[in-house]
Amino acid sequence: MIPSKITPSMMCADLARLPETLSVFTEEGIEYLHIDVMDGHFVNNLCLGTDFCRQMRRMSEIPLDLHLMIEEPEKKLDWFDIQPGEFVALHVEATNHLQRALCAIRERGAKAMAALCPATPLSVLDYVLDDLDGVLIMTVNPGFAGQKLIPATLDKIADCRRYLDERGYGHVTIEVDGNVSFENAEKMRAAGADLFVAGTSSVFAKDGDLRENIAKFRKAIR
Ligand code: DX5
Ligand code: ZN
Repeated sequence: MIPSKITPSMMCADLARLPETLSVFTEEGIEYLHIDVMDGHFVNNLCLGTDFCRQMRRMSEIPLDLHLMIEEPEKKLDWFDIQPGEFVALHVEATNHLQRALCAIRERGAKAMAALCPATPLSVLDYVLDDLDGVLIMTVNPGFAGQKLIPATLDKIADCRRYLDERGYGHVTIEVDGNVSFENAEKMRAAGADLFVAGTSSVFAKDGDLRENIAKFRKAIR
C-alpha cells in the first residue's frame, strides 16, 4: 500500500494566520499544500490564482498540489510556473486533449494527475494510464468547501484502486477531495486512497486546534 499523505486545502486556511499555519505544517511533516484554482466557468466559483501559488512557494518549502478547476487547462499551464515535484491535477471534463495535457505536466518535471467529478467513469483513464502519476477522485462536486460526501464515491475509490492494480498501475496515487472528515478519511484509506485533501471537515475544523487536528487525521489515515 502506498504510504498515506496529507494535503491541506489552502482555500480553507485563515489568511490572517498564514505564516503560523505554514510553520505548523512544516513541523508536523505535512507532505503537500492543496491549491484549488477555480475559474468561474468550469465551476461556479472563483478562487486562488497564479499569484497565490507563487506566494505559497515563497512562504513554504512544502511542494504544491495544484487542483485546476478551469476550462482548457492545457492552454494555461504556463501561467502557473509549475515546479518539479509538484502534483498538478486537471479535470478530464475540462479538456479535449487529456493525453497531451498530462504529458505537458510531466515535461515540466511535475506529477500528472487526472481529476474526475463524481459522475465521471474510471474508463476515461483507459488509454492514458502510462501518462498518469495520480487520479484525483472528487468525493463531492467541485467548487465549494463544506459539502457532504457523495456515498457512491467511496465505492469509486475502491473500484479505482482495483482498476489500477489489475492493470499493473499499483504505484499510481489516488487523491481524494471533498468532505474528507476524520470519519470519512478512515473509510477512504480502507478503500485505497493515499493522498488526502484536508479541509473544513478535518485539519481546518473550527472546534479543534490545528496540531491536534493533524494528529487525529494522521491516525485516521494510517
Ligand atoms: C474543492 C476543495 C474542497 C474543500 C475540501 O476542490 O478542495 O473540497 O476545500 O474541504 P472540505 O470538504 O472538508 O470542506
Ligand atoms: Zn481541491
